[in-house]
Amino acid sequence: MKFFIDTANIDQIKEAESLGILDGVTTNPSLMAKEGITGADNILQHYVDICNIVDGDVSAEVIATDFEGMVREGTALAALHPQIVVKLPMIADGIKACKYFADKGIKTNVTLVFSAGQALLAAKAGATYVSPFLGRLDDVSTDGLNLIAEIRQIYDNYDFETQILAASVRHTMHVIDCAKLGSDVMTGPLSSIKGLLNHPLTDIGLAKFLADYEKGNA
Ligand code: E4P
Repeated sequence: MKFFIDTANIDQIKEAESLGILDGVTTNPSLMAKEGITGADNILQHYVDICNIVDGDVSAEVIATDFEGMVREGTALAALHPQIVVKLPMIADGIKACKYFADKGIKTNVTLVFSAGQALLAAKAGATYVSPFLGRLDDVSTDGLNLIAEIRQIYDNYDFETQILAASVRHTMHVIDCAKLGSDVMTGPLSSIKGLLNHPLTDIGLAKFLADYEKGNA
């Protein structure tokens, strides 16, 4: 399973990258605003900065909600850097734009997916990635993981090449459950990645190994 980090924070992206296990980055307009990145030029430059830190795909989201606007913005985003993936909202014009970019060989990520039907449409439009938001479904008492399982089954039934990018991952158990369900990618905050490192028995075991070494070599 690929690990993407879901942030526009440069320090956190660098920290995840330094672990050697980072496969890409997802951003959205809220995450850019959270980092104080505003204004078209600054936003575009920030995407380039992110691409220069990581080796993998970097999702950059369009703001337009009409087909022509999405094509215009997406084309400009894709021209920024070969690692850019054009992130499109799961609406009718977003699906049309997805097909447009797929036909041109430009990578896409269809975002704000909350149902299996939406994921089926994204795959038929040739999306590179589909982003089901599992945490936001959990937030409204709906089983987000069940959606990942449904999409996995549908994509496998028809050998769709669209990759399931489990989004809105909030914690380590989401990461593990996505891996069990065969999600192709997960994107989450740095804490959901670093949290996988932790186990008290690892800490206790390491302390004992070091103490025994010290005794033997005193
Ligand atoms: C996906 O690409 C989104 O950026 C993100 O995962 C949303 O997560 P949230 O629901 O925690 O805001």
